[in-house]
Amino acid sequence: MQVEGRYGVCMSQNPPGPRGYPILGMLPDLRADPVRTFLDAADRYGDVVHLKAGPYDGFLISDPADIKHVLQDNARNYHKSPLYDRLRDSLGNGLLTSEDAFWLRQRRLAQPAFHRQRLVTMADAMVACAEQALERWDQIAASGEPIDLVEEMMALTQAIIVRTMFSTDLGATAEIVNRTWPIINRRIGETFWATKVETALPLPANVRFRRALGELETVVYRIIAERRRSGRDEADLLSMFLSARDEETGAGMTDHQLRNEVMTMLLAGHETTSLALSWTYFLLSQHPRVEQDIADEVDRVIGAERASFAHLDRLTRTRQAIEESLRIYPPAWGVSRRALDDDEIGGYPLRKGSLVFVIPFVVHRRPKLWPDPDRFDPDRFTPEHEAARHRFAYIPFGGGPRGCIGNQFAMVEAQLIVAAVAQRYRVALLPDQHVRPEPLITLRPKPGIRAKLEKRSPRANGHV
Ligand code: HEM
Repeated sequence: MQVEGRYGVCMSQNPPGPRGYPILGMLPDLRADPVRTFLDAADRYGDVVHLKAGPYDGFLISDPADIKHVLQDNARNYHKSPLYDRLRDSLGNGLLTSEDAFWLRQRRLAQPAFHRQRLVTMADAMVACAEQALERWDQIAASGEPIDLVEEMMALTQAIIVRTMFSTDLGATAEIVNRTWPIINRRIGETFWATKVETALPLPANVRFRRALGELETVVYRIIAERRRSGRDEADLLSMFLSARDEETGAGMTDHQLRNEVMTMLLAGHETTSLALSWTYFLLSQHPRVEQDIADEVDRVIGAERASFAHLDRLTRTRQAIEESLRIYPPAWGVSRRALDDDEIGGYPLRKGSLVFVIPFVVHRRPKLWPDPDRFDPDRFTPEHEAARHRFAYIPFGGGPRGCIGNQFAMVEAQLIVAAVAQRYRVALLPDQHVRPEPLITLRPKPGIRAKLEKRSPRANGHV
């Protein structure tokens, strides 16, 4: 076996993998460009790769059966990895970061907020928010100015999550969320691999982060305080959490616990969907045939009516394009776990305490699962193709018990937004933009996406 610098193969009981630097292993590469590092490792070494990253020993896995084993079949043997500690610093012990009995209790409390019947009602609120945004867009379009697509989508999905989950709107405080969340997101992304010491030092970046977090918390505590004061039961997520009582003590959730859950939902519930939409427009702009198919479909199915939940079943092409965009640019580009006990993955022993990296960005590009993986092709999501594929070959929403609680919500939201926009506008990207994915907590388009709004006139239903 040839040894080529830090890519020399490391032979042991471990699966193959890059040797990396002494002590640090692949940490410098993972810090510099995690997506590239994971992608290269899977391309080079296959479905199970041994990766040492500083103090951590880990497996990068990309075979669907192994992924199912970790995320679903043997999920009890895994907790979220220490990489989620940075997320815990800001979101606290909420649904995304908590474990075991506490997590299960919270998940059960939250679940009814996402039931199908509620989705039908929430779809109306989503369209109402989209219409409000479109009214503002009308003015921008009239001025001929371009929009910052990511910012626009962020503002829209944020309005939707606040209205559907907390039955309020942020009003003037939306500005605080828009300003502080990117600072927090960036710092968490930058410090994923950092030690606790590095994040505790009074560095300017840490000070900025703490200040931003404090400001964001005031918005969250205000939402909680207003609801406690009004005592209204809105049958929304916030009411579900507020009315929960501990079975033994009868105590309700404290403000701090509520803050963690509200913060989690606010952030997990808008950032990812807005990026899914931004990437979808980015891809559509390079595939005018699909873009036209969607416009035609929206004309045919919705025409000049108001978009609603009832239309969704027939917005097939729209859904397929969004799903394909989630394959190529999965906003939650990587998840990871820590083994609580020894396990075996792909025939290799995995020791207790090791990390497992499940990277949708990588899995979605494995040529054996996705032929010609870089090609944008919504036909991959026809029922025949879907039936022929392993469920865990496509994991933009993760999977198993810790899979995304907002999966359906996000798909309904994304379809309705694309449809409502298509009724009025073609989103035309400005030429000569060099956009690339930046892996922070989420996969962001860097430096952003600028677009012009071109007016469309929907044709009446059935006359395409
Ligand atoms: C396109 C949009 C979305 C994507 C790509 C996405 C992706 C994911 C992924 C991959 C996970 C699993 C994380 C892990 O295994 O460590 C997850 C969990 C979660 N997501 Fe989403 N998500 C999206 C939208 C939403 C929405 C709209 C909400 C809320 C309304 C939401 C709330 C959550 C929560 C609370 C969890 C943690 C669930 C648990 O552990 O019980 N997400 N999401």
